[in-house]
Amino acid sequence: MTEVQRNDKIEMITLHKFLIIFFSLLLLYDYYYTTVPVVARIANPKFTLLGPYNGTEPSTDDVYDQLIDIKNFSFKVNPQPCLEYTAGILLVVIISSNPTNYENRVIIRNTWGRSIESTKVVFLMGEPENITVSQKIQDESMLYGDIVQGSFVDAYRNMTYKHAMGLKWVTHHCPMAKYVLKTDDDMVVNSHELRHFLARELSPWGARNLITCQVLEHAQAQRSDKSKWKVTAAEYASRYYPTYCAGWAILYSQDVVPRLLKAVQSMPYFWIDDVHITGICAQQIGVTRTPLGNLILTRHRANMLTSLGPKYIGSFIFGPPDLKSDRISQIWKAIPE
Ligand SMILES: *[C@@H]1O[C@H](CO)[C@@H](O)[C@H](O)[C@H]1NC(C)=O
Ligand SMILES: *[C@@H]1O[C@H](CO)[C@@H](O)[C@H](O)[C@H]1NC(C)=O
Ligand SMILES: *[C@@H]1O[C@H](CO)[C@@H](O)[C@H](O)[C@H]1NC(C)=O
Ligand SMILES: *[C@@H]1O[C@H](CO)[C@@H](O)[C@H](O)[C@H]1NC(C)=O
Repeated sequence: MTEVQRNDKIEMITLHKFLIIFFSLLLLYDYYYTTVPVVARIANPKFTLLGPYNGTEPSTDDVYDQLIDIKNFSFKVNPQPCLEYTAGILLVVIISSNPTNYENRVIIRNTWGRSIESTKVVFLMGEPENITVSQKIQDESMLYGDIVQGSFVDAYRNMTYKHAMGLKWVTHHCPMAKYVLKTDDDMVVNSHELRHFLARELSPWGARNLITCQVLEHAQAQRSDKSKWKVTAAEYASRYYPTYCAGWAILYSQDVVPRLLKAVQSMPYFWIDDVHITGICAQQIGVTRTPLGNLILTRHRANMLTSLGPKYIGSFIFGPPDLKSDRISQIWKAIPE
């Protein structure tokens, strides 16, 4: 062997070693991120998981016919899908819905929101001002029995009533659900993966002090007239909002709901529901919001899912918000069972 050949050989060996180490690390990383449960990846979780013996339903002293500053609140339509499940159910999904989004509700009922044994799904709304719409909602409600309607006008600036009504409805009519998902009617939820996440990675018996979502920090109150989210200093004085959850996918543990409702009931009304309920009120009851991280499907990953298939995007639970109804079905079709 010449000197040059020897040097080449040494270089080859070094390169081999390097490649072996590199790919081992890559495999380890991949193994960790695909097999280590999400909870184990959360450093220092501020919630606790329950075992088979801790599952008592929280009691409540909530005033039934009050909703924040509405003193004569009532449920105009009040289905009871949880009633028969005295032994408990895994999940109840409350979906803030716009009365005119009939199509979205149809798609959701036929895709990710199919009612099954362990999961109940209801749509939350107020009273539409338009008589025609109001009549259609009555018919829809008779047909499906999954609309929860409260005695307030269904309007943009009333959305905090809608979310708060959801908490009230769960507190009084579905306290046996171990987990509560608040979402919107323009979303897709990977419900197979969600049930797996709750029952295997979290606990089938529930948790305590859990609020998990896409956590938003240092968000500024919008002051510009052009913003859909414009708030005046009179509505909200500080420049920054407290840490809060994006309102389109918030997972609560059972115990959090009545505590949060109590705080919401006693605070002055603020119309941006996610800031108010998962920011201001959650902070008041001292519950830390845990980020869902890559369990949220970004728009980009959603495009990869529908064009290339599920192999390339890793696991996810909550899809991107603001979807049209046909996009909800497209994404749903691309999700493996
Ligand atoms: C659940 O029950 C176990 C056993 O009784 C107890 O040690 C634990 O503190 C309880 N956890 C909660 C969160 O109540
Ligand atoms: C609640 O009270 C207000 C004013 O007292 C009244 O206009 C409204 O119709 C009442 N709403 C219900 C649902 O009873
Ligand atoms: C009420 O809704 C119907 C159907 O969506 C629509 O055709 C009608 O113009 C609406 N009426 C008013 C007063 O907005
Ligand atoms: C809800 O919104 C409507 C229209 O913006 C408004 O007139 C009403 O007072 C609001 N509040 C309730 C409790 O309905």
